[in-house]
Amino acid sequence: MDQTGRVQIRLMTEGDLAEVFSLELASFADPWSVTAFALELRHNPHGHYQVLCLGTGGLNDPDGTSALGNTGGTGSTGASGNTGGTGNTGSAAAPVAAYCGTWLLGDVAQLVKLAVVPAWRQQGWGRCLFLAELCWARDCGARQLLLEVRSRNTAAVAFYTALGLERLDVLKNYYQGPSDDALVLGCAL
Ligand SMILES: CC(C)(COP(=O)(O)OP(=O)(O)OC[C@H]1O[C@@H](n2cnc3c(N)ncnc32)[C@H](O)[C@@H]1OP(=O)(O)O)[C@@H](O)C(=O)NCCC(=O)NCCS
Repeated sequence: MDQTGRVQIRLMTEGDLAEVFSLELASFADPWSVTAFALELRHNPHGHYQVLCLGTGGLNDPDGTSALGNTGGTGSTGASGNTGGTGNTGSAAAPVAAYCGTWLLGDVAQLVKLAVVPAWRQQGWGRCLFLAELCWARDCGARQLLLEVRSRNTAAVAFYTALGLERLDVLKNYYQGPSDDALVLGCAL
């Protein structure tokens, strides 16, 4: 929500990448670099990245300080190659609370990223952004959602199971650092 109390889901821009990278570091053992995100935004025609922003004074942020210590994006629109979404720019008053990314490959949407700021987890924001991304994918013609998740990531496995995804496959030793199997989860759209 912003200072008027709204939750904002909008396209990720390069102005968001400092916040996104902080959250990426806090969320994944094998984080993407800022460059990896920037290349995705600029050059991947199949990529779609969104952020969910909550304004100051909301929820666990009563003093107006971000849970990650950031003050928010720069407001730059960046050079995103993404299409769709609201097209809003970043705002210092609306810190990034979550982000997600999807590759739309034919009629398959592959979710490649989803993370929520640790202090804002288990409050429904992950579900909110995930469902928004699903709606976008379905509107673009996707008929199936697929994703891979570390088998030991019990919170994420519980999250996706609660949202109705089914286990389709197991990829042994798919992840390194640390080594782990990948569960392939999916659902029809
Ligand atoms: C996975 C993640 C995105 C979930 O986001 P979230 O905002 O905490 O999830 P929500 O609050 O929307 O939870 C929705 C449902 O998922 C389940 N769930 C979420 N977190 C859970 C947890 N830690 N343990 C058990 N169930 C959980 C619950 O059933 C919950 O429904 P409920 O609130 O009615 O009980 C978040 O934990 C996260 O950012 N993890 C680190 C990054 C990551 O692992 N991403 C996934 C990589 S594939």
